[in-house]
Amino acid sequence: MKKLFALLALAGVANLAAAADVVGNAKAAENKVAMCIGCHGIPGYKATFPEVYQVPMIGGQTAKYIESALNAYKKGERKHPSMRGIAAGLSDQDIADVAAYYAQQK
Ligand code: HEC
Repeated sequence: MKKLFALLALAGVANLAAAADVVGNAKAAENKVAMCIGCHGIPGYKATFPEVYQVPMIGGQTAKYIESALNAYKKGERKHPSMRGIAAGLSDQDIADVAAYYAQQK
């Protein structure tokens, strides 16, 4: 039992360490951005559901900006319902990857 606890504690520490330095990988994002393109990749940047609305351009923003925006949606500091739903489904690694991907777009 003691051993198990020690293992769990170790795993916890490893997790924390991993979270502290998540490095974005643009290549890994390629299959994660498919759903973003549905809204952010439309010419004129307009989505049509549930009503026609303007979608901001995210390609070419800095990774830091994209990351902090996604984290803000995830935490509820930014309120847009579709983006909140999407950000909630992304892990820290996903966010870092996607941010790296969009940051390298022109
Ligand atoms: C259903 C349509 C939709 C999808 C899918 C979508 N977004 Fe968005 N996104 C929006 C809208 C609309 C906004 C503006 C929301 C607001 O006003 O806060 C936004 C805002 C953002 C912002 C903030 C931009 C800024 O300049 O403030 C980022 C970053 C972002 N989205 C990233 C993503 C990523 C990454 C994905 C895929 C994982 C994604 N979005 C998928 C509609 C969408």
